[in-house]
Amino acid sequence: MSHPDSTPFDDLLTALQKRRSVPAKQLGEPGPDRATLLRMLEAAVRVPDHGKRVPFRFLRITGDARQALGERLVARALERDPGAGDAALEKDRMRFAHAPTVLAVIARLGPDEKIPESERFSTASCVCFALLQAAQACGYGAQWLTGWPAYDPVVQRLLGLGVDERIAGFIHIGTPRLDAPERERPHPAALLSDWNPTA
Ligand SMILES: Cc1cc2nc3c(=O)[nH]c(=O)nc-3n(C[C@H](O)[C@H](O)[C@H](O)COP(=O)(O)O)c2cc1C
Repeated sequence: MSHPDSTPFDDLLTALQKRRSVPAKQLGEPGPDRATLLRMLEAAVRVPDHGKRVPFRFLRITGDARQALGERLVARALERDPGAGDAALEKDRMRFAHAPTVLAVIARLGPDEKIPESERFSTASCVCFALLQAAQACGYGAQWLTGWPAYDPVVQRLLGLGVDERIAGFIHIGTPRLDAPERERPHPAALLSDWNPTA
């Protein structure tokens, strides 16, 4: 069966081709309310998931909790490096304070007889990306960030992660304060080749 000449979801493809992040520092109020966030998540959870393990969950960091987390990060940063400079500490204090909503996408891993951990983490990463797309579709800007707090065991415990859980990403969501600058994108044609069985 041949495909039609025009794509049936041309508008959707155009939107996907235009997706870009908005830096968290440029994301302001309002953020999505709980109902809107749940709509976004309905889209974001529809990811390929080998073995239907649902290897992810969400943690929302919003309101005063953002500043409180920033203060805890400063304390932890000083533990990691007692000589940390003011600029670095201020960056940590503000890490979660810019966008009104930050969603930690937590990968749920642990022993599994069949599905490799890397595949389950890939599924959680797909959720992060799908959430970026859903946020943009709802008129918000978003950015996927990690940084040292994502990998620090003390911060992971502070956020309530279990021993088999990891941060796949912090998705910062809010209203863009400016048009995000475009960056150079890879050229698909330069990246695509055909496998040749005689080579
Ligand atoms: C797993 C992951 C972690 C990232 N962590 C950071 C980060 O900590 N800091 C940062 O500046 N960008 C980070 N980025 C990059 C941004 O999410 C984003 O790609 C960048 O701002 C460019 O925007 P774009 O999505 O329009 O290409 C990360 C991306 C991924 C996939």
